[in-house]
Amino acid sequence: MRKLLVIGIGPGDPRQVTIEAIDAMKSVDAFFVLDKAPERGVAVKHSLVGLRQEICDRYIDGDYRFVEVPDPPRDRNPADYRAEVRRWHDARADLIEEALATELAEDGVGGILVWGDPALYDSTLRIVDTIIARGRIDLDYTVIPGITSFASLTAAHKILLNRIGEPIHITTGRRLSETPEGASANQVVMLDADCTFLQTAAPTDHIWWGAYLGTADQILIEGTVGDVGERIRETRTAARERHGWIMDIYLLRR
Ligand SMILES: C[S@@+](CC[C@H](N)C(=O)[O-])C[C@H]1O[C@@H](n2cnc3c(N)ncnc32)[C@H](O)[C@@H]1O
Repeated sequence: MRKLLVIGIGPGDPRQVTIEAIDAMKSVDAFFVLDKAPERGVAVKHSLVGLRQEICDRYIDGDYRFVEVPDPPRDRNPADYRAEVRRWHDARADLIEEALATELAEDGVGGILVWGDPALYDSTLRIVDTIIARGRIDLDYTVIPGITSFASLTAAHKILLNRIGEPIHITTGRRLSETPEGASANQVVMLDADCTFLQTAAPTDHIWWGAYLGTADQILIEGTVGDVGERIRETRTAARERHGWIMDIYLLRR
């Protein structure tokens, strides 16, 4: 039976890869590289694939093999967001299944290096479940956790996610405006290309923002939305232009 290791590699700093992840990486015959986004440009590919290569170079003695699985095209502004994401995941499952069947021996060990932790806004596990449910190839898999981008954010700002006993709400820029009032004390917001907090937050809300966390390009801004909101938007736009890509996350506290 083919075996697949879904390995969380943390949010960008090679030193934040766990020893469990390193041990797993050493047993892999071929790494399947999935998350390239052609519409976001070549720079993304080089940065994300490049970081994975840096991690492998650093921790694996000897040769390793990368199999790049092309990303199927995706409609970023569909009428039905969930239906489009399901269609896209199915298309990705097709390509990954084919790559596993053709690039991995029947008793081989494949690896997928997942940004941050595989349980947080990542489609790898959903896709692996789809492939197993189809039953066309025999596949067993193991998940190795990784440091999340919000752990990197809170450590960089030296803060807790919550005040004593408060709940924490994790959401995306797309869904930020839907947070129920009772859950808005501490919101962790990911995947927000539009600085949505500028529309939803009160000027007195506090924001801790971080981009390229754990990398040499890390940027941190903190303050009330009224004081630093516009600066975050300008900094984000300029950084995205300079690098060709950006990953940023923030904690918003009411
Ligand atoms: C598809 S999600 C993947 C999350 C990942 N699985 C995790 O555990 O953090 C991508 C989002 O994670 C956040 N992110 C990931 N790495 C980051 C980093 N190094 N700096 C800032 N934000 C990051 C950003 O909000 C980005 O839009």
